[in-house]
Amino acid sequence: MAGRSIEILLSDFEKIRGARGYESAQTMRPDFYTSPELLELEEALFRREWVCLGRAEEVLRPGDYFTTSLLDEPLLVCRNKKDEVVVLSNVCRHRGSLIASGSGNKHRFSCPYHAWTYTNDGQLVGAPHMGEVSEFSLTDYGLPKFSSEVWQGFIYVNLDGTAAPLSQRLAKLESSIAGYQVQNMQICYSTEETWPVNWKLLSENFMEGYHLSVVHRDSIHEYTPTEHCEYFSGGDGFTGYYANFPRNKPLRGKCAPTLSEVDKHRTTMFSVLPAHVVAAAGHLTTYICLQPHGVDQVRAKIGLIGYDVQSSDKADIDEAVDLFARTMAEDKVELEKVARGLRSRYLQRGALAPINVEGTIWDFYCYLSENLAIANSDTA
Ligand code: FES
Ligand SMILES: [Fe+2]
Repeated sequence: MAGRSIEILLSDFEKIRGARGYESAQTMRPDFYTSPELLELEEALFRREWVCLGRAEEVLRPGDYFTTSLLDEPLLVCRNKKDEVVVLSNVCRHRGSLIASGSGNKHRFSCPYHAWTYTNDGQLVGAPHMGEVSEFSLTDYGLPKFSSEVWQGFIYVNLDGTAAPLSQRLAKLESSIAGYQVQNMQICYSTEETWPVNWKLLSENFMEGYHLSVVHRDSIHEYTPTEHCEYFSGGDGFTGYYANFPRNKPLRGKCAPTLSEVDKHRTTMFSVLPAHVVAAAGHLTTYICLQPHGVDQVRAKIGLIGYDVQSSDKADIDEAVDLFARTMAEDKVELEKVARGLRSRYLQRGALAPINVEGTIWDFYCYLSENLAIANSDTA
């Protein structure tokens, strides 16, 4: 039965790839969110794509580091002495212990098991007693360094090193959001959570405007009502829409002097596919770095960054953090219901709402249809 389910999904993907335009847009069948076999293809995709791990500000000074993981791969994110952000394997080359934990500032990491010692650029510089082992050379046992890029202040990693340069791929998006100066924004709030829903549900939810005036009626609806949402056509590896503010709404907080009048009155919502979603607004930008954790859980690194935070009123920032946390809590309640509904045996494919409010979801389906089919042929 399971084999048949993935075959049906792959055949849906083929139809989506052959579909013309948004008229044929449909929702996906429930298996899309529950299939363990599809998850395997998604995990392969996460290894060959750019995946966001957080902000460069988290490793601001040389020696700063934090540990994290992507799928089951332990990672050590450092700023080395050349002032570069590097993403290293956090797995010791001796017998595989985890080397670092948590976060802090260190230029050398000593493995807690037998004290092999590495620099924050991955070179092995010490290995007790190994000088007695013939032909052992420290230079043969550095830590793998993964491809990484910092774009708009976000750190991205590509585990298998095959992805085309990210900044090139996002050039069009970059020029359209340049005025916000997201790269200069600073962290006001950051948290890591695991939600009991498939990762795609949280991505889709963040990226569609259809639910804004329903789920968020008492929170963000007054600034970003569904009726003012406006899809913009994405590009290779990204999609998005504008959440336009009603005309009578006053501006909130400071924003970069480079921001256009139009952009001051809207939030630019974008997704760096597959799993980084961002809501860029002049004063405050929110984001989630997502990754699957099994079929029915998502790991989410959730953040809020602000422009010129030092000279902002702390009460205003606290209020914004509170509003964001409330908004996320409203989403979580709904998504848990969707996750429950998707286990129904009788749910069939449905229709997507107009392109301005759910066009991003269709782009997400198109991207996954293309890329999971590639992942499938790679593993065949
Ligand atoms: S496992 Fe790290 S030094 Fe032995
Ligand atoms: Fe929402």
